[in-house]
Amino acid sequence: MNTFTIHRLHAREILDSRGRPTVWAECALASGVTGAASTPSGASTGRAEASELRDGEAGRYGGLGCRRAVENIRGTLHEQLQGRVFATQAEFDAELRRIDGTPTLGRIGANATVAVSLAFARAGAAQRGVPLYQHFADLAGRPLRTLPRLTVNLFSGGKHAGEQAPLQDILVVPKRAATTGDALADVAAVYRSAADLIWKKYQQRLLRADEGGLAPLFPDAEAMLGDAVAAITAAGFAAGTDVALAVDVASSHFYRGGRYQLCREPLTPEAMIDRIDAWTRRYPLVSVEDGLSEDDWTHWPALRARLAGRCLTLGDDLLCTQPQRINRAVASGAADALLLKVNQVGTLSDAGEAAALARAAGWKITVSARSGDTEDDWLADLAVGWGAEFIKVGSITQSERLAKYNRLLAIEEATGLPLCPLP
Ligand code: PGA
Ligand code: ZN
Repeated sequence: MNTFTIHRLHAREILDSRGRPTVWAECALASGVTGAASTPSGASTGRAEASELRDGEAGRYGGLGCRRAVENIRGTLHEQLQGRVFATQAEFDAELRRIDGTPTLGRIGANATVAVSLAFARAGAAQRGVPLYQHFADLAGRPLRTLPRLTVNLFSGGKHAGEQAPLQDILVVPKRAATTGDALADVAAVYRSAADLIWKKYQQRLLRADEGGLAPLFPDAEAMLGDAVAAITAAGFAAGTDVALAVDVASSHFYRGGRYQLCREPLTPEAMIDRIDAWTRRYPLVSVEDGLSEDDWTHWPALRARLAGRCLTLGDDLLCTQPQRINRAVASGAADALLLKVNQVGTLSDAGEAAALARAAGWKITVSARSGDTEDDWLADLAVGWGAEFIKVGSITQSERLAKYNRLLAIEEATGLPLCPLP
C-alpha cells in the first residue's frame, strides 16, 4: 500500500488578490517529495462557513493578519503530525479536525487547515507520480471524463463592487465552443464588447471589481442582465445558443426582516421568486445562484420548483459546502446544484463529502474560487478531478484568475478530455 509519512509542515503568511493576508503551506513527505498550496478568502461569505483565524491586531492589516494561523501550522500541526503515517487523505484530514477539536476549525483556523490539506494532496500526487487532477479523481474514486464548462464574471455588483449594483455577478457561459481554448476566446470577445458598451453607455472604463468584472453604476438588475445580452450580441454571438448567462444574486446580503431589498425595493420572498422567474424567461440564464437568502429555507423549494428543468437553482451561502446543510437541502428540494468552495468547510475530504452528497442527489456541481484568491491553480485540477460540470473563477483580466484558466488549458492539452455536456 502507498502510505504517506509526514516529514515537515511549513507555512508562511502571503497576500491574496485584495492585498490581504492569507496562508501558504508546504508539506514535505519522508519519501522526499513536497507539495504546497495556498488558501483563498471570501468577502461575500455565508454565515455557516468554517472559521478563518485572523490575528485581530488592529495596527496590522486591519486585524486580518494570519500569523497565528501560520504559527499553528509551524507549531501545533508540525509537532503533532511529524513522523505520522497516513494511508489516505481522509485519515489525514480527520486528524486535522481532531487536533483542532472545534466544529468550525476555529482554533487552528480553517485558513490553516485548507492550505495544509491541499499541500498534503499535492505531496501525495507527487509521491504517486501522477498529475494533481488524476490524484483528485482517484481520491473521489471516479474516472476522468470531462472538463468543466466556464462561467466567467462579466459584470460585478454587491459586496465585490462597493454595493453599486444589486446583482453580485453576471457570468458568461460559453455554449458553442467545444474546447476551453475556444471558450476563453469567446469570453474575451464578449468582455471586449461589454467594455465598449459600458464606455458608451455609462462613460466608465476599467472600473473592475474584486474578481475583475466590469462594475459601472448600473441602475438596476435588469440593466445588468440586458447589457450582458447586448454585449453578447454585439460580439457577434447568438445569446442563449452560442453564449448564455448565469447570475449570482447573493441575496443573503440584501435580505432584511423577511424582505429582499433589491435596489431599495422591498420584495416579499414570493415577489422575489416571481422576479427571478421573470429574469429566467427574459434572459438566457442557465443558472441562478443564491436567488434567496441563506436564512430563507422555507422559500427555496418553491424557487427550485419554479426553475426546474429550465435553469439550475445553485446554492452557495445557503449550503456553505457543508454536508449537513446539503442533506437538508436535498431532503426539502431546496436546490439542484452545489457551489463548492473548499475553504467554506475547511478540508479537502469534507468538501469531497459535500460533492458526493450532491452527486448522489443528481445535482450539478460548480467548483468555485473566492473573491480574494491567489496565483495557486489547484482549483482547476479539483474541478477536473471531481468531474464538476462548471467552474467559477472570476473574470479574465487578473492573474489569480488566469492561473486557473491557464491550468485548465494545460490539462486540456495533456488529457484531450471533452467539455462536460450541457445540462
Ligand atoms: P466570495 O464570493 O468569494 O466573496 O464569498 C463569491 C460568491 O459569492 O460566489
Ligand atoms: Zn455566491
